[in-house]
Amino acid sequence: MRVDTRPIPLSFPYLDERDEELVLEVLRSGRLSLGPAIDRFEQVFAQRVGAPYAAAVSSGTSGLHLLAVIGGLGEGDKVITSPYSFVASANCFIYEGATPVFADVDERTMNLDPAAVEAAITPRTKGIVAVDIFGYPCELEPLQQLAEKHGLVLIQDACEALGSEYKGAAVGSHGVDAVFAFYPNKQMTTGEGGIVTTHDEETWRKLVSLRNQGRADGGGWLDHARLGFNYRIDDIRAALGIGQVEKLDTILSLRQAAASRYGELLGAVDRLDVPLADDADHVRSWFVYVVTLARGTDRERVIAELERQGIATSRYLPSIHLQAYMRERYGFSEGLCPVSEDLSQRTLALPFFTAIEAEDQERVAEALTAALG
Ligand SMILES: Cc1ncc(COP(=O)(O)O)c(C=O)c1O
Repeated sequence: MRVDTRPIPLSFPYLDERDEELVLEVLRSGRLSLGPAIDRFEQVFAQRVGAPYAAAVSSGTSGLHLLAVIGGLGEGDKVITSPYSFVASANCFIYEGATPVFADVDERTMNLDPAAVEAAITPRTKGIVAVDIFGYPCELEPLQQLAEKHGLVLIQDACEALGSEYKGAAVGSHGVDAVFAFYPNKQMTTGEGGIVTTHDEETWRKLVSLRNQGRADGGGWLDHARLGFNYRIDDIRAALGIGQVEKLDTILSLRQAAASRYGELLGAVDRLDVPLADDADHVRSWFVYVVTLARGTDRERVIAELERQGIATSRYLPSIHLQAYMRERYGFSEGLCPVSEDLSQRTLALPFFTAIEAEDQERVAEALTAALG
């Protein structure tokens, strides 16, 4: 029997004619930036996640950076974050001169363990960046309590968590400033792009100014009230964002169905764990489908075998503190966050996207099961 080797990508965006229409409308309008599509996108997005204010930006990273600036995280400050995340959740405050402190994650949730965060707090701690990794909501309530008790800035990196729910309410609605990202592998995309949601009008005003070169409300084009950035999104991408929010329910339910299918195909396979199931307080929005291989499995061999069959995978996620620039700059090394480091060796992202075919998932599951055998 010939092995099917048609490529199955790791991710693929979900776009339709409505998206094309909305983008074309902007192109034809001539208002390519600072136009009405941005306001509209912010409105529909804020409403969707239950936050009173939203400021769309050029990327998730720029949104996180702006919150670090507004939070005053800078020279001499330490900021606690998760080692098991994408580098931007630490880079955002390093840009401002603050020093990262990595607290270990909970092996089950793969998110920051609040007890480890508490243990890492010192008089120099100024903030916490909590991440909803792989769309699984982080322990926001205990982290909020810690932030309040110690007077810390709390930023929620919800870049992977659009549609997730914590304690019965949408991520973004809990009063904590949060950032969502729209790179094409995310639940919804604007190509590149991100958005910051906040419950504080003053924070929103600062975001709007800072993303736009520090221009002041009502000031002229060449009047700059503060040191700002060009972190604007444009109307073309905002229009795409509107189209994507319009179909977000469909997107999320198709992703849920695809995740359930993988769960059925892989749930009983020896030598791997499927992603943690939801509970009353945590409802995941499916961003990626990441399995954890049993200790002692040769992950590289599994990756190579799947690749041979045209199946893309990725080593999600390396521990941030062990990245070359982190070792060099801060002297971090193995053993700092054992749970994160162990997960980094064993986790594997499988092809996962909104319109993935059941047949392709079956092929992935078969190939993975055989490779583990
Ligand atoms: C957890 C996390 N934080 C931050 C980012 C940064 O978002 P962007 O790539 O839009 O800058 C991403 C996405 O790549 C992410 O997954």
